[in-house]
Amino acid sequence: MTEARGLRVGIVGCGYWGSKHVRVMQSLANVDEVVLIDGRADRIDSLRRGLPGARTFEDLPSALPAVDAVVLATPPTTHAPLALAAMAAGKHVLVEKPMATTSADGRRLVAAAGEAGVTLMVGHTFEHNAAVAKLRQLILQGDLGDLYNIDTARLNLGLYQSDVNVIFDLAPHDISIIINLLGQAPESVQAWAACHAHRRLEDMAYLRLFYPSLNLTANIHVSWLDPCKVRRVTVVGSKKMAVYDDLAADERIRVFDRGVTSPVDDEDLTQPPMAYRYGDITVPYLDFEEPLMVQDKHFVDCILTGGRPATHGDNGLAVVEVLEALQISLSEGRAVALDELRLGVGQDQSGPDERGVLIGSSR
Ligand SMILES: NC(=O)c1ccc[n+]([C@@H]2O[C@H](COP(=O)([O-])OP(=O)(O)OC[C@H]3O[C@@H](n4cnc5c(N)ncnc54)[C@H](O)[C@@H]3O)[C@@H](O)[C@H]2O)c1
Repeated sequence: MTEARGLRVGIVGCGYWGSKHVRVMQSLANVDEVVLIDGRADRIDSLRRGLPGARTFEDLPSALPAVDAVVLATPPTTHAPLALAAMAAGKHVLVEKPMATTSADGRRLVAAAGEAGVTLMVGHTFEHNAAVAKLRQLILQGDLGDLYNIDTARLNLGLYQSDVNVIFDLAPHDISIIINLLGQAPESVQAWAACHAHRRLEDMAYLRLFYPSLNLTANIHVSWLDPCKVRRVTVVGSKKMAVYDDLAADERIRVFDRGVTSPVDDEDLTQPPMAYRYGDITVPYLDFEEPLMVQDKHFVDCILTGGRPATHGDNGLAVVEVLEALQISLSEGRAVALDELRLGVGQDQSGPDERGVLIGSSR
C-alpha cells in the first residue's frame, strides 16, 4: 500500500537506539507522523517532551492500525515475533540488527515479507556508511592489491545487554561490513568467547570468518569489557593497507602505501627476511552523511517507490546465519561450515526451529 501522502512510522522500542530513529524519522520529508511505541512510560515521556503531540502506544498490536510502517528497535529476541506480527498486518518493517536470533526465524521473516508484499529491511547501519562504501571501492578498484586479511575490533566498557551475548550484539556490524566488502558470506566460521563479568552471557569474543576461495580470513574482536572504545576495520592488501576508524571523524579512512616484499631467495639466511616499503598515508575525501539518516531515508524511499532495499531481509538473514554458525562453533568447540545450517548437520533432535541458538551460556 503506497499512499500519495507521507507515511506514518511507528518506532517500536523507544530506548537508546529507538530514540535516534525517532529524531531521524521525524526529520524526513515523506514521513507525516512518528508514533511512539514502548511498554515503558518513562521512555515515552522523555521523548514526548520533544514531540508534544505524538501519539503513543504501549505495544505493537494496539499501534498497528495507526501506522503504515514500523521500525523495530527492541531487544533482539523480540525482533522476529514483532516483525511477523507487523508484516501479517501489511506493515513495512525496518528491523534493527540482528534481524533475528535464529536462521529459521530469519528465513520466516524473508518469506513473510514476500507473502505480504511489504518492504523488509534490516538496520545494518554501516552498509549505509560512506566510509564502508569507500573501503569497498578501494578493494574493488584493486587499489589495495590482493587482499590478505581483514581485522575488525569493536570494543568498549559496555553496553551490556540482557538477552544476547556480545557476539549477537556487536558482531552483526562487523559481519555485515565484511560481507559487504567481500561481496559474499564466509564458507565457515570459528568462535572463541568468554563470560567474565556476566554470569551467563559471553562478554568478549574472538571470531574468525574463513573465505578459502578468496584465500582470506577475516578476524573480529568484540568486547563489552575493554577500557578503551575502539571501532576499527583494517584491510591488509599486497599493495596497500587501509584502516577505517569510525571514531576519527575527520579521517575515518586512512590508506597506507606500505607493504613488504619477500626476497627472491628466502632460504638465504644471510639476507633480511623481508623488505619493507614505506610510502604516503592518504585520507580519501568522504561525502559523509549520518548513516542512520541515509538508512532511514532509504527505507522510506523503498516503501514509496517499491524499490528493493540495499539491506534487504536476505542481507539480514546472511548475517544471522553467520551468527548462528558462530554460536554453534562456540558450543561445540569446532569450526562450523555455513552449509551445515542449511543441511541440518550439527543440529540437535529438536531441529533449528525449536532449538534456537543458545545466545550465551555455552558452558
Ligand atoms: N544499528 C545500530 O547501530 C544499533 C545501535 C544500537 C542498538 N541497535 C539495536 O537496537 C535495538 C535496541 O537496542 P537499544 O540499545 O536501544 O535497547 P534499549 O534497551 O535501550 O531499548 C529497547 C526498548 O525496547 C522496549 N521494548 C522491549 N520490548 C518491547 C515490546 N515488545 N514492545 C515495545 N517496546 C518494547 C524497551 O522498553 C526499551 O525501551 C537492538 O536490536 C540493538 O541491537 C542498533
